Amino acid sequence: MIPFVDLKAQYSEIKNEVNAAIQGVLETCQFTLGSEVAAFEQEFAAYCQAHYGIGVNTGTSALHLALLAAGIGPNDEVITVPFTFVATVAAIYYTGAKPVFVDIDPHTFTMDVKAIEAAITDKTKAIIPVHLYGQPADMDPILAIAKRHGLIVVEDACQAHGAEYKGKRVGALGDMGCFSFYPGKNLGAYGEGGMVVTNNTEYTRTIRMLRDWGAEQKYQHVLKGYNFRLEGIQGAVLRVKLRHLEVWTEARRSAASYYDELFSGSKVVTPEAMSYARHVYHIYAIRTKRRSEWQQALQAKGIQTGIHYPIPVHLLPAYADLGYKQGEFPHSEQAANEVLSLPMFAELSRAQCQAVTEAVIMLTNQRVAEHV
Ligand SMILES: Cc1ncc(COP(=O)(O)O)c(C=O)c1O
Repeated sequence: MIPFVDLKAQYSEIKNEVNAAIQGVLETCQFTLGSEVAAFEQEFAAYCQAHYGIGVNTGTSALHLALLAAGIGPNDEVITVPFTFVATVAAIYYTGAKPVFVDIDPHTFTMDVKAIEAAITDKTKAIIPVHLYGQPADMDPILAIAKRHGLIVVEDACQAHGAEYKGKRVGALGDMGCFSFYPGKNLGAYGEGGMVVTNNTEYTRTIRMLRDWGAEQKYQHVLKGYNFRLEGIQGAVLRVKLRHLEVWTEARRSAASYYDELFSGSKVVTPEAMSYARHVYHIYAIRTKRRSEWQQALQAKGIQTGIHYPIPVHLLPAYADLGYKQGEFPHSEQAANEVLSLPMFAELSRAQCQAVTEAVIMLTNQRVAEHV
């Protein structure tokens, strides 16, 4: 049995440290925000090469509050991609603004920078590039377009902890960067969590208020805020895990390059890492036109896979009101039909990589046999 992710393997490696950290919070009873969260905010912001970090309850809330802090609301438009997790788009909706989609580049699965300018109108206020699968979007052209048109850039870095673009960490490349600490993420809480990182003091102040009922001091509510606070236990767990993140990230990168090596010379379509990127392989997705058959065959051999994501957001029933039609974003639609995520986690062994690649290559050969 090769799982898609193995959270138990990770826990057994850090059990003593994590248990002690949780015990510490139980002793201090700082269950929401508190000193562990404050320390984690500083440590994670530093890790992202950003000045400030504001811990929140989820990555979705991080996106939502980042947009609100930038003043985005009804009658505004925000440009993003349809090939993402639904939360990117939901966060735009929560502000009252309208999501406007541009297609992805089929090689990187991230925003096609050539498509952005055609989507800009007088209502456009922001761009949300998504660093999908752990590979940064091509940020230089995005930042140049944003500057030319006076737009805010909010990075959706929910899958990209520690990823780098031209040697710089993602998160503070644009105006704000949003992270998720959902348990399966490269840096995952033992529950939910998220963070906005930024170099901007004003955004920091506003988001700190918005996450805690719009108050800077207790009961002095100056903004209409939310209960989006990060929990103390999550802060403590995340501090422990952050100390291991670089080792885990290198282990993921090494597993990915071992997959690449084992697949080389085969017909398997492997993910492309761009020369500008430090790809952190939250997901290692291959492409196949026979996905459901492959997924079932792998499952029968005890190999778990995933699909991230089977339906692009513009074709989801929940967002039919945006009025997009099938065929409008062909690269997103094709990717949604073809991607298959292979097991990927820091503890993935060489033997497990070999078993996965052998099973996949066998499937590609079957096709050749059938055609002969
Ligand atoms: C690209 C992307 N954006 C946003 C989110 C939302 O994060 P969360 O689940 O922590 O709300 C996620 C993860 O779930 C994600 O993968």
